[in-house]
Amino acid sequence: MDGNGRWATARGLNRLAGHRKGVEAARRVIEAAPTLGIRTLTLYAFSSDNWRRPMEEVAGILGLLQYYLERETDRCVENGIRVSVIGRRDRLPPEVTAAIVAAEQATSACTQLHVRIAVDYSSRDMILQAAQQCAGWSRDNFAIALGNSDHGGTPAPDVDLLLRTGGEKRLSDFLLWECAYAELYFTDRMWPDFCAEDLEAALQSFRARERRFGAVPAPLLPAISF
Ligand code: FPP
Repeated sequence: MDGNGRWATARGLNRLAGHRKGVEAARRVIEAAPTLGIRTLTLYAFSSDNWRRPMEEVAGILGLLQYYLERETDRCVENGIRVSVIGRRDRLPPEVTAAIVAAEQATSACTQLHVRIAVDYSSRDMILQAAQQCAGWSRDNFAIALGNSDHGGTPAPDVDLLLRTGGEKRLSDFLLWECAYAELYFTDRMWPDFCAEDLEAALQSFRARERRFGAVPAPLLPAISF
């Protein structure tokens, strides 16, 4: 969801105004996702490195997250959207943690779309934490440990498409294990301007790619002639 800050600065607004617009863009994408066949959507809302930002911006982002969860949970239930949060919880303000737990519980049986929001998230830390529990484990068991509590004992899902807005071409400590075979899509569009058509364009590009997962292309069926 990159570009909120630059979007706001370019309009003479403070960065938080960009994050507010970013929440609207997140809502648009969440609404569009099921109609485009997306079953799992992970949004990178706050990385563990984002604690380095000014206190007001950090408080603003976490406040927006809390507001969004409190306000949208009923609508998520109505639309079959399961919400869960990945990342550390022990450093979040208690009212934010409470909003997360309430949203997760209320939406736990929803099956249309799974929205995962990464908050105080560092993929390196997640890998390290899982590695400390899992010496000698298989990849699948490791992926379960990595899955956090949001997958109830199933592996963290592999990412099919990683989409980054705002012109940056980096992974920034996001889902490093899960992106092993992700297709990458970068766009200059700033996140607050991102809309369903942009998501469709990304999916179109994704569908045109040949995914081989390290194997060779599927052999052509031999031509049969009579
Ligand atoms: C990245 O843009 C965006 C963030 C670090 C914050 C995103 C968080 C929200 C929109 C609020 C809560 C989220 C949800 C899903 C309800 P940036 O600040 O790095 O922008 P820049 O690249 O222009 O500096």
